[in-house]
Amino acid sequence: MSRTARPRHYLMCRPTHFTVDYSINPWMEPAKPTDADRAVAQWEQLYALFQQLGHTVELIEPLPGLPDMVFAANGATVVDGTALVARFRHEERAEEAPAYLEWFRSRGYRAVHRAEFTNEGEGDYLLAGDRVLAGTGFRTDRRAHAETERVLGRPVVTLELVDPRYYHLDTALAVLDHDEIMYYPAAFSPESRRTLAGLYPGAVLATDEDAAVFGLNAVSDGRRVVLPEAAAGLAARLRARGFEPIGVDVTELLKAGGSVKCCTLELRGAPA
Ligand code: ARG
Repeated sequence: MSRTARPRHYLMCRPTHFTVDYSINPWMEPAKPTDADRAVAQWEQLYALFQQLGHTVELIEPLPGLPDMVFAANGATVVDGTALVARFRHEERAEEAPAYLEWFRSRGYRAVHRAEFTNEGEGDYLLAGDRVLAGTGFRTDRRAHAETERVLGRPVVTLELVDPRYYHLDTALAVLDHDEIMYYPAAFSPESRRTLAGLYPGAVLATDEDAAVFGLNAVSDGRRVVLPEAAAGLAARLRARGFEPIGVDVTELLKAGGSVKCCTLELRGAPA
């Protein structure tokens, strides 16, 4: 099967101030040492890779005291040039929202929405073709889904996460192409599993091992799928479907419970 890559526009944040000094997900162990230089070096490789693949990458200034700001995917959801800015669940990350709001405004976006309900941007909202797959259960408030449908003008499919290790949708599911996804069924409630099986009967399913190395925290441009290099089994299955998996090492960031996709916010459409 031949796959077509489309050039993308991303927003990223260098992990200059990276550390794990609080814990808001089961991966974060403040007692375990972290290395900001190593985090930056790994991140720089991802940043360079996206550009080598022909994508445009913009940057937002990392702010001291916000060590999770590297996870730019959480800052907003952008569709057709409209930005719905996040409202974070935890106080530790709350100050990231105004930074994103300001970034979008300064870049000429006029349709910039400050969210009423808690939503953690593309951590829980993944655009698949015309629909938004929307996670809830740990971070994004279920009530936010209707708000998102209204602001972004796309139908929203609610998916309930049930395993605290996979607290954001993008840790348990990745969009590969318009109507193709890969996901880890055990991360979802029985009802959501039925929803996913109905919508995506041909989906690539991840094993426990794939999920545990954050293999689903991947970024696809329609052909090339950038994912953690440890997810070897998943990479082989993607290759068999005609995708081109590219493994990267961002293990330092995994100490905060994030990987490739978490670092990458997609900017869709010119500023509206
Ligand atoms: N430490 C961050 C948090 O718990 C990690 C966020 C990962 N981002 C993501 N898109 N899954 O909020």
